[in-house]
Amino acid sequence: MVDLIKYTRKGLADAPSNPILKFSDYASKIPDVVKFTLGEPDFNTPDHIKEAAKKGIDNNHSHYAPSNGTIGLRKAATDFLAQKYGQKYDAETEVLVTNGVSESIFDAVVACLNPGDIMVVPTPIFPLYMSDVNLLNEGVKIVRVDTSEDGFKLTPAKLQKVLDQYGEKVRMLVMNYPTNPTGVMYTQKELDDLANVIRDQPIFALCDEIYSELNYDQPHASMEKTLHDQVILLNGVSKAWAMTGYRIGIVCAPQPILEQIAKIHQTIVTTEPTPMQDAAEEAFKNGMNDSQPMKQEFQQRRDALYHGLTEIGFECAKPQGAFYIFAKIPDGLEQDDTKFIYDLVDQARVAVSAGSSFGRAGQGYIRFSYAVSMDEINEGLKRIAKFVKENQQ
Ligand SMILES: Cc1ncc(COP(=O)(O)O)c(C=O)c1O
Repeated sequence: MVDLIKYTRKGLADAPSNPILKFSDYASKIPDVVKFTLGEPDFNTPDHIKEAAKKGIDNNHSHYAPSNGTIGLRKAATDFLAQKYGQKYDAETEVLVTNGVSESIFDAVVACLNPGDIMVVPTPIFPLYMSDVNLLNEGVKIVRVDTSEDGFKLTPAKLQKVLDQYGEKVRMLVMNYPTNPTGVMYTQKELDDLANVIRDQPIFALCDEIYSELNYDQPHASMEKTLHDQVILLNGVSKAWAMTGYRIGIVCAPQPILEQIAKIHQTIVTTEPTPMQDAAEEAFKNGMNDSQPMKQEFQQRRDALYHGLTEIGFECAKPQGAFYIFAKIPDGLEQDDTKFIYDLVDQARVAVSAGSSFGRAGQGYIRFSYAVSMDEINEGLKRIAKFVKENQQ
């Protein structure tokens, strides 16, 4: 028999599977486990949005939509972004509807980077930007900037240092705010200061704002406000409307850039499912404030989990957005975060994510998602407190 594996894409067979998914599968097999691993809201999609999807099916919206997305959805999305955050994009020419923000990232990275280019990524961060490059953009170098000493925020000085070191090769800066996995949010001034470092240089700012509606302590700030021409803005319905399974993301960019990104989408996806676009249109149009009750609930859970973890001895930056807490493993416990999460789930039946899954800067940390009920938070905290007491040296 021919060994076809060795003829598949170079490096693919040896590439590790997603460690977060691997661990989640492992943890799911443990009875009565409390899972703080989920990266999606534990709420249901609002009823009026579900109705819109059903209506789309009943009305035979079963044909290919325009490749960039239905004009109804693109208009609803641009109206939403303009009204909520003052972000101005033309629905006809500057918006692309994708298969979740996951595809938006893929399309942008493939369309905008060439061999020899450098992508700058502040870490710890959602790992997909880096895995897309590792898998597909041969010759693109990733420069990771460790933010753990700076409250998990990229500083203008550190960004400038990267530019001084790598010069014109730097082609893309990745920003995600509120940030997965730390829940950190930048102020408008901080984003403006970073924008000033790359302004008028041939550098794309890939701004992933998928958690824009889940901001607890301040209004949403955006790099788009002061760097419109260089920003590729990503957003979507997955998190704010609890629609992860609908798979709708949005890319906004100045027309000439968007046209290039759209070519990648045309090639790999053609278009998104039409009834799902009807549902997302309804979310943006008539669900402007749907996330409010969810946000209040998340805020209470954040406070409970943050206080509980701090009392047990975990050091964590208080998150201001998204639904994650990034906690430092206390001294006297296993400091290898991957070993730590397996010990914790085996001994205490509590599942969390390893910090190093979000880049080397996350080593020695664990990520909690508080997209779980208050009862689970209380039970989880009890089990963790016992685990720490029994294992700390
Ligand atoms: C920062 C960030 N961007 C993008 C995504 C993916 O979003 P989607 O479900 O719309 O593909 C996630 C999901 O966890 C995320 O945390």
